[in-house]
Amino acid sequence: MKNAVVTGAGSGLGRELCLKLAERKYRILLADVNTAGAQETLALVKNAGGDGEVYECDVTKKEAVEHMALHAFDKFQRVDLLINNAGVTSAGFTGEIPINDWEWCINIDMWGMIYGCHYFIPRMKAQGGGGYIVNVASEAGLVCLPEMGPYNVAKAAVVALSETIKTELAPHKIGVSVVCPSFFKTNLLKSMRYQTDYQRDLAQATFDHGRLSAADIAGCVMKAMDKNKLYVVPGLNAKLFWLDKRLSPELFYRFIAFTLKNKFGEKLMMFLARHGLT
Ligand SMILES: NC(=O)c1ccc[n+]([C@@H]2O[C@H](COP(=O)([O-])OP(=O)(O)OC[C@H]3O[C@@H](n4cnc5c(N)ncnc54)[C@H](O)[C@@H]3O)[C@@H](O)[C@H]2O)c1
Repeated sequence: MKNAVVTGAGSGLGRELCLKLAERKYRILLADVNTAGAQETLALVKNAGGDGEVYECDVTKKEAVEHMALHAFDKFQRVDLLINNAGVTSAGFTGEIPINDWEWCINIDMWGMIYGCHYFIPRMKAQGGGGYIVNVASEAGLVCLPEMGPYNVAKAAVVALSETIKTELAPHKIGVSVVCPSFFKTNLLKSMRYQTDYQRDLAQATFDHGRLSAADIAGCVMKAMDKNKLYVVPGLNAKLFWLDKRLSPELFYRFIAFTLKNKFGEKLMMFLARHGLT
């Protein structure tokens, strides 16, 4: 039986990842601040043929993440898979977003992932026999759209560290994937912090008209793990946005700036969202 640690296991993508791992008969440490949600996931995991236990962990606290690593290796003897998935989102214009919202988003999305890597990697190397790390970023980590500063910054950091450890961990046969989806329906908007109704409505529209579910994304992650694939960019829209940016970053951002300057950027984004094109 293989062992996994999944953060943010109590909801959304974390839950679906746990269910896919259960089908593969993993024993899972389901970590979350929301232990009630994680308990619900555990019941579903057991139903699906897996096993595990709930572990209360706030990924913004480095001591808590270190204790989680100690607990996981003590309990399971080895950890084959770490999924740094816990995350939140914050919207607004830079300078208008309260600094507390910046810190909240960066602490969970960026520092949570750094702590996970920092405390698990040495132990995963030492145990030998390889392993796997999945970091959940977002399309926002590859393509920085306006009014999403904290999320863009945090998720770009998740992409950067994942690229770094992909090479560092290759000699230890520890594979790495970074997951960069556009919006899909979960409970993310319940915790979202925002400044204007437009920001909230845009996020809601992308959720309501998204073409992929959390289960679809989790399926893409499993396939990427099987192939040891670094970038997981599910869905055609996310792939096209990423391709456009890579083909001509200058032109890409000039176009977005043009739409904002000429006051149709927000309308265009809402149109794309309502047609499932973001
Ligand atoms: N839903 C989307 O549209 C979308 C798109 C791209 C990337 N993502 C990423 O997917 C990941 C999962 O998000 P989701 O959409 O399933 O949202 P969600 O809100 O449904 O689940 C997030 C989970 O993380 C947990 N969490 C929050 N803060 C935590 C903390 N400090 N310590 C431990 N756990 C904490 C929450 O309790 C929750 O169970 C996030 O990293 C998110 O940024 C989501």
